[in-house]
Amino acid sequence: MCGIIGYIGDRDAAPILLKGIEKLEYRGYDSWGLATILDKISIRKGIGKIGEGPSDPLELKGKAGIAHTRWATHGGITEENAHPHTSCKGEIAIVHNGIIENYQELRRLLSDEGHNFTSQTDSEVIAHLLERYYNKSKNIKNALLATIKKIKGTFAFLVIFHTDPNVIVGARKDAPLVVGVGEDEFFLASDVLPFIEYTDKVVFLDNLEIAIATKNLLKIFDFKGKEVKKSVTQVAWEVGDASKKEFAHYTLKEIYEQSSTIKNALYQDRMKLEDFCKAIKGAKKVFITAAGTSFHAGLLARYFFSKISKVYCEAILASEFGQIIDWIDEGTVVLAISQSGETADVLHATREAKEKGARILSIVNVMGSTLDRESDFSLYLNCGPEIGVAATKSFTAQLVLIYLLAFTAADKPVYVNKLKILDKCVESILKVEDKVIEIAEKYKDINDFFFIGRSTHYPIALEGALKLKELSYIHAEGMAAGELKHGTLALIDDRTPVVVLNPEDDTYHETLSNTLEMKARGAKIIGISNIDNEVYDDLILFPKVEELFYPIIEVIPLQMLAYHMAIGRGADVDRPRNLAKSVTVK
Ligand code: F6R
Repeated sequence: MCGIIGYIGDRDAAPILLKGIEKLEYRGYDSWGLATILDKISIRKGIGKIGEGPSDPLELKGKAGIAHTRWATHGGITEENAHPHTSCKGEIAIVHNGIIENYQELRRLLSDEGHNFTSQTDSEVIAHLLERYYNKSKNIKNALLATIKKIKGTFAFLVIFHTDPNVIVGARKDAPLVVGVGEDEFFLASDVLPFIEYTDKVVFLDNLEIAIATKNLLKIFDFKGKEVKKSVTQVAWEVGDASKKEFAHYTLKEIYEQSSTIKNALYQDRMKLEDFCKAIKGAKKVFITAAGTSFHAGLLARYFFSKISKVYCEAILASEFGQIIDWIDEGTVVLAISQSGETADVLHATREAKEKGARILSIVNVMGSTLDRESDFSLYLNCGPEIGVAATKSFTAQLVLIYLLAFTAADKPVYVNKLKILDKCVESILKVEDKVIEIAEKYKDINDFFFIGRSTHYPIALEGALKLKELSYIHAEGMAAGELKHGTLALIDDRTPVVVLNPEDDTYHETLSNTLEMKARGAKIIGISNIDNEVYDDLILFPKVEELFYPIIEVIPLQMLAYHMAIGRGADVDRPRNLAKSVTVK
């Protein structure tokens, strides 16, 4: 779950690398480091905020280098464990994203041979293995191939060699690595964000490939050393998409972007959309899989496909997918939903399903991501880079795409047209922020929250609770409104705030009854609805819309609530503690 970037070209590498890891910070942010090469390899590292450490990283000279932002897995958050890691004499430096599973065995072997380790990380073995093989062959490519043969696990890593300052190399297995192609320069990175301001031309490395770049030549090989011809793709993201603009945080900017991003999610290739629907409708079995917020979109997809398109399907958490693997066969379609397209649990599930003969359809935001490339068909969210660690605009874009699929599969063009005016409703719900701030101020010191809803509002209750937990560190539980009385009601007292998702639809009256049951036990009720009721202590009111669309509308005030509660409690909203945006470990 770390971010890596390398540069080789005519410019000074350090500023590009430093800015690059700032853009990759969403992948991990507990420590950072960079290495450049001039006549020797020089390194700067630090813990915490990128660029802050004992000495200025911009002092580093050289036109080639590598950098890393870390989310610790093996070894604590210390300067020694921050990447880059080097070989014994500091002549080879590496940065690594992933996990080397057999690192203990390799570390023992290398230590017995006299290699001196200076960190507790799994990654450091890569530097020493490269040293071992380079000393034998004096050939970078051979050393790289021998090293990857020896390591087990997942990796995308980059290397610079003191002996050849004009080369930077990379390798990938089950972790992303892309190459930005500039004029007489290359950028090797975890994704396009850190170099999109320099070039929009990209070569996507496939799994089990290595890249060897000088400033004007890029060669890609498979793990057997055979050259692979790759094409260059032009990617669509703009530089502005990845900046905070006038907002205090990316998360807030992304919440506000939703009036346009839900529109962009509707721009889909008609033929591709129909192929997607045909595959879903023609399948013997349909399973939806995803993690976290994307799983909540998956729960709604299950509901809409079953109810609107009359396609029965199941939604399974990607981390639990193994439990149903025996039911997957050639007649199965697996629909994977993922913002990043890099979530390890999701990739593991789809790979397992593919092996059993299933067709993999995916809904992703990041074009060229591993999930996108490994799927039979993909549809894109088109919501631009999402930098805030908490998913916001990608969730509503996922919902729009799911509606579009469900209506298209059900041949309901009237509803597809209704989707086209949803942006106006989103614009009006964004105006509730002042009311949300007032509520956040009132409840920010409370430590337990509940969110309830029935039917399509239940996944939104789960999502509201997840947002509050990850942004403000307040314990929160999302529940099906009808389930409270089966146990959880015991936790409700006169200090408990309960957020009730209750717009006027066929769930309205039953949810109201459940709300009254909580009110009778003293709960403080925060209503999210298009109609007022005396049961609410506080109400976030929004206009009446087409009933089916309430989930998209009502989740936005919940995102705002989590944001403002977090601000009120002084939490780091864009970078919640212990989390990373792309969870590339299982
Ligand atoms: C929550 C959040 C996570 C992600 C989850 C899946 O705000 O961001 O729960 O939704 O890690 O990530 P993707 O969608 O990239 O597969």
